[in-house]
Amino acid sequence: MTPDAFAAIMDRAYVQMRPWSAQDIADTLANRHVQFLTHPQGGLIAQLVADECEILAIATNPDAQRQGIASALMQDLIALAETRNAARIFLEVAEQNHPARAFYALHGFAPLGMRRAYYTLRNGTKDDALLLSRPVAQRHAHDTPTSQGT
Ligand SMILES: CC(C)(COP(=O)(O)OP(=O)(O)OC[C@H]1O[C@@H](n2cnc3c(N)ncnc32)[C@H](O)[C@@H]1OP(=O)(O)O)[C@@H](O)C(=O)NCCC(=O)NCCS
Repeated sequence: MTPDAFAAIMDRAYVQMRPWSAQDIADTLANRHVQFLTHPQGGLIAQLVADECEILAIATNPDAQRQGIASALMQDLIALAETRNAARIFLEVAEQNHPARAFYALHGFAPLGMRRAYYTLRNGTKDDALLLSRPVAQRHAHDTPTSQGT
């Protein structure tokens, strides 16, 4: 998916939030730590650095929401985070963004903290950002068995 195509989906999907421009998306994708997971009707941009994974953007075309598209992208990200040995996935979500908060809760994200008046919404008002995280299963734990028995 091109930055233009994802910008068009974000523009339709981000009801309260200010959407990213195609240039914002292109600039973000130029970072070598950034991954862009896509579906014809949706996308997810995440950054994986050291043992942390952060979701920077996720959106599904409003015509295709509630069909499991974002969930499939999230499952792909969780699998990627596991292979990269990330310990946690983080993200920020606007306090008033109830659909996204329901989606993240379903995927095991829990609140870590809040950033007051962090976002300026499309209507010019401010909203708090909730910082959410979920743990990632450690696939490559180095739990070498000992020969000592119990
Ligand atoms: C959040 C978003 C990405 C979810 O995309 P989606 O493809 O519709 O998500 P899914 O179909 O995988 O939804 C999975 C579950 O999440 C929850 N959920 C998703 N959208 C919801 C909504 N509008 N209201 C309540 N729960 C919702 C439901 O439990 C849903 O399962 P169900 O449909 O069986 O009830 C989409 O609503 C969106 O693009 N929102 C605008 C962009 C945005 O706010 N992104 C997050 C910024 S932090």
